[in-house]
Formats: sequence, C-alpha cells, structure tokens
Amino acid sequence: MTTEDLIKPSESTHAFTGLSGQNQLNPLFCREGESSDFPLNTLPQGESLPETAYQVVHDEAMLDGNSRLNLATFVGTWMDEKAQRIYAESADKNMVDKDEYPQTAAIETRCWLMLANLWHAPDANNAIGTSTIGSSEACMLGGLALKRRWQLARRAKGLSTEKPNLILSSAVQVCWEKFCNYWDVEPRYVPITDEHKVLDGHDLDKYVDENTIGVVAIMGVTYTGMYEPVAAIAAALDRIQADTGFDIPIHVDGASGGMIAPFLQPDLRWDFRVERVASISTSAHKYGLVYPGLGWVIWRTVDDLPKELVFDVTYLGGHMPSFALNFSRPGAQVLLQYYLFLRLGFDGYYRVQKASQDVAVYLATEIGKMPAFDLWNDGTDIPVFAWQLSKGYTQNWNLYHLSERLRLKGWLIPAYPMPDNLSDITVQRIVVRNGLSRNLAESLMLDIREAVDYLDRLESPMPTEGLVGGFTH
Ligand SMILES: Cc1ncc(COP(=O)(O)O)c(C=O)c1O
Repeated sequence: MTTEDLIKPSESTHAFTGLSGQNQLNPLFCREGESSDFPLNTLPQGESLPETAYQVVHDEAMLDGNSRLNLATFVGTWMDEKAQRIYAESADKNMVDKDEYPQTAAIETRCWLMLANLWHAPDANNAIGTSTIGSSEACMLGGLALKRRWQLARRAKGLSTEKPNLILSSAVQVCWEKFCNYWDVEPRYVPITDEHKVLDGHDLDKYVDENTIGVVAIMGVTYTGMYEPVAAIAAALDRIQADTGFDIPIHVDGASGGMIAPFLQPDLRWDFRVERVASISTSAHKYGLVYPGLGWVIWRTVDDLPKELVFDVTYLGGHMPSFALNFSRPGAQVLLQYYLFLRLGFDGYYRVQKASQDVAVYLATEIGKMPAFDLWNDGTDIPVFAWQLSKGYTQNWNLYHLSERLRLKGWLIPAYPMPDNLSDITVQRIVVRNGLSRNLAESLMLDIREAVDYLDRLESPMPTEGLVGGFTH
C-alpha cells in the first residue's frame, strides 16, 4: 500500500465505517473511535481500523494501574524480553492438542518431572503430574484425587461414601471452599488463633474421622505468608492412625511456597520427603515467575491418582491422557516455564527468591520498628508478611485509611480482616515479588512513614463509612 492509498479514503472504508482518509492519518488522537465514543455494551455495527481499536484497548488497559506497584498480588507481573518473544511466538498453541503440539506436550512432561525431582518424589518416573491453569485448578484436581481414593477404599470394604470431609485451616484460600462446595465435600475448618497462627496438627483428632478424605497443608498461607508445618501435621496423623487405623493423606497447597521452599529452606521437610504427602500443587504464575495462568500438580506415585479420573482423549488422530477441568488452554505458559527453568536453573531461582526475601525482611524490620505497628510475621517463610495496628495506638485511623493514603502514591497494599475466630483483627499485607527492588522498597518506606505522620496529625477520627475492605483471598 502506498502513502497515497493511506491518505485517499477507499470505498470500502467509507461503506463500513464512515472513516475518512484524514482520520486514518490520525496525527493527534482524532480518528473516529478516539475522538468519539465506542459503544460500551453493544457490539459496534461496523469495523474499525486496527490502529484505532488497538489505541482504544491500550488506553483503557492503562487505567488498570501499575502492576509493579501492586503489592497485593502474588501473581507475576514481569518477564524478560526473551520470554516476551517466546510468548508472542507461541500464543497460538493449545495445550490440550498434544497431537498438533507434541513438543509442547513433551516440554510439559519435562517441567513436571523437574518439579517432581525438586520436591523429592521418591521415584520421579513413577510420579505423575500435569500443568493446570493455576493453583485453583491444581488444588481441585488434588482434592478430587483424594476424594476418589477414599471412595474406592470405602466401596472396597462395602462402606458408605456419602459424607466425605476435608480438614483445612480456617485461613485456606477460597479455591478450597469452592472445591468443597462444588464437589460436595464437608469442609472442617481448624480455626487459627493467636496461639496457633497456622494449622499445626494440634487437636487434629477432634476433626478427623473415617470419612476424612485428607488434610490440606498450606505452604505460604495467603493471609500472612506463613508456612504450615507439614511434618508436624503428618506426625499428628501418624498418631491418629496408630490409635484409630485411619490412614489420612496430605495434599500440600504450595501455591507460593512450592517455588520458594526448595530454594530458600532446602532442609525444611514439607514435600514428598514426608511420606504422608500424596500430592503437591503450585502456581507457576506466582513464585514460578511465569505470566498468568499456569499451575502444576504432582502426585507422589501413579497409584495416588486413581485411573478412573484420567480420560483418554482421542484428538486429531492421536491419543492423550487428560486429567483437567478445562479442555483447551494456552500452551505458551508451559514454554515460558521451561524457558525459566533453563534460563535460571537452581542457582538463578535461589538468587531471585533470596533477593525478594531480603527486601521482605528489610520492609518487615522497618515496619516492625514503627510504634504504630505490630508485625504478624517477618517475611522469612515466603517473602510475604502482615502487620496489625498496635493495641491502643490510635482511635483516629485504621489500616484501611493507611491503605487509602498509600493508594494516592500508586501503592496497592490491602488491609483486610483475618478469618473467622480472629475476624476482629485487621491486618495489612505486603507481597514482595521479583521486581520490587531495594530502591523501590526504600521509596515505599518513605511513603508509609509520610502517610502515618499525616494520619497521626489528625485531631479527630477519620470517617469509617464507605471504607473499602473487600479484599478477597
Ligand atoms: C495458598 C493458595 N492456594 C491457592 C491459591 C489460588 O491460586 P491461583 O490464583 O493460581 O488459582 C492461592 C492464591 O493466592 C493461594 O495463596
């Protein structure tokens, strides 16, 4: 196409969009669609120039805010240029179509085998795993396998399978509430308390019975970032088995910790080294450092994933085993994970996670020094920590007000109530991810101190009506 073509309005352009040639030149945001409104809730009647549609979408997305300053999310918001290139090159790949994309399928297997080894599966070749769209799907699959194993064992003994239950901390992520709701499993929540800040195996015998399909242990509780002591939970279940005969498996929800603990706490026994651990899930798009959405779930052995749950799907002339809730989903993220495994290796992951942890510990230490705050934890498990307002510190403001003040500077640092039993305690949490440099963290500390100074100078209480506390886990 020549420049003249671009300037001269074509018949078809006029016919379908009413655009003038001059508008196509668009020196200053004056194309139709930029200088006038697109309909928001109805499909536009005609086409638009790709440049116009791009500009409109790009500009709207700009209003989403700066993801690097979002310290609420666990999800990766940055990848390097080579990763961007792989992403663009593989955006068309469909993970389910293993016949069409056999190499992506082979790479998926390599990735979960690497994880099975990293998580100390006794024999990775006898383990089984899959990629998922994220931890929620991975947890659902882990939970479904627990339920089916329990059903099979009960049926084999001629016992009822009507009332399965699952033991969880009251601070589980919402995906587990969904699992119990969607698949008719009774959730039995062990409340966290000041004394037991995480599920740690205490009083487990009061929750467990013959209908318990499993216990969920979280490596990196969403509310606070703390690890649940998987080995202590397993020891409690060993004692229960000795007393009652109930042999109850553990699923480890390692959404964040699954990609932190192997590097930063290599001696901590939380993974397949603990014999009771039947399956482990993680979010590749959290500390796996991949863009959303990718997760992984791995079972200790093929026997831990009942064969009845695995479908053999014929697709484009091939056969493939499939254990997933979705059918089609992007394959690009799997390639991105493989790229990072090759690019970083063990040492690279260690350095990245350690840098995040150093920043988290720095921030926690500085916040802990401020008289206004009491730390809930210190960022030494996953690089996440939470704090509360010191008792009796002020009647004039609370952590929601602080959260609002920090938003004025672009920082997203949510405040929210702790789960049932501790719901009168409000905490504020920072998730440190790759990309929050020490320099940025120092700027954040300046902003926090300035916001607290401002709030401390108030002579009467801030209004509490209309405060946004709707952060969900
Ligand atoms: C402990 C835990 N489990 C599960 C999830 C759900 O993860 P995803 O967003 O990958 O579905 C999260 C998310 O924050 C989490 O923290």
